[in-house]
Amino acid sequence: MEVIEKRRSIRKYTEQPVDKALINSLIQTAILAPSGHNTQPWHFIVVDDPELKKKIAAASHKQDWMLAAPVFIVCVADIKVMSGCEDVHFLDEESPQLELKKIIRDTAICVDHLVLEATERGLGTCWVAWYKQADIRPLLGIPEDKYVVSIVTVGYAAQEPKPRPRKKMEEALHYNRW
Ligand SMILES: Cc1cc2nc3c(=O)[nH]c(=O)nc-3n(C[C@H](O)[C@H](O)[C@H](O)COP(=O)(O)O)c2cc1C
Repeated sequence: MEVIEKRRSIRKYTEQPVDKALINSLIQTAILAPSGHNTQPWHFIVVDDPELKKKIAAASHKQDWMLAAPVFIVCVADIKVMSGCEDVHFLDEESPQLELKKIIRDTAICVDHLVLEATERGLGTCWVAWYKQADIRPLLGIPEDKYVVSIVTVGYAAQEPKPRPRKKMEEALHYNRW
């Protein structure tokens, strides 16, 4: 509860680098996430190369604030874990497959684990998903049958944002019926 309440989207970072062992431990926690049929569709690409980070931020609608984060973790879902999807060779925002929704769902759970573990370890993060598959994948050599669910910026926070507004519980909660 404490870590869930503490987490914020962080868009300003100090210059302090993040230890590779710490990044690895975030992934170690993330992959404990549940997934439908335990399919575990997730993959992670850790990016710390400054030139590559520039290209990724530019492809994410020029979100230059991302560059202050020393590390990006690109979170990718692989549809090949789903049976019957062996012949899927291309995915993008328009793809209709139900399986695509499932791998995005499961990878998103995993990313949430990652972000909460990062918060617990004193790191700041922000989800970024404002990009097109076609713009991000080629930068990282990601095949066209994989789906980039999120890019998580990771670093030490240089800001302490107040909690952002949320719906009242009564607006989200239903009993027995919609
Ligand atoms: C799927 C997803 C995509 C997001 N994409 C972006 C993004 O591209 N750029 C950005 O600055 N924030 C992005 N965010 C962060 C949200 O703006 C943020 O979570 C929301 O405003 C609530 O603030 P909080 O995370 O501090 O509670 C994204 C969050 C999610 C969950």
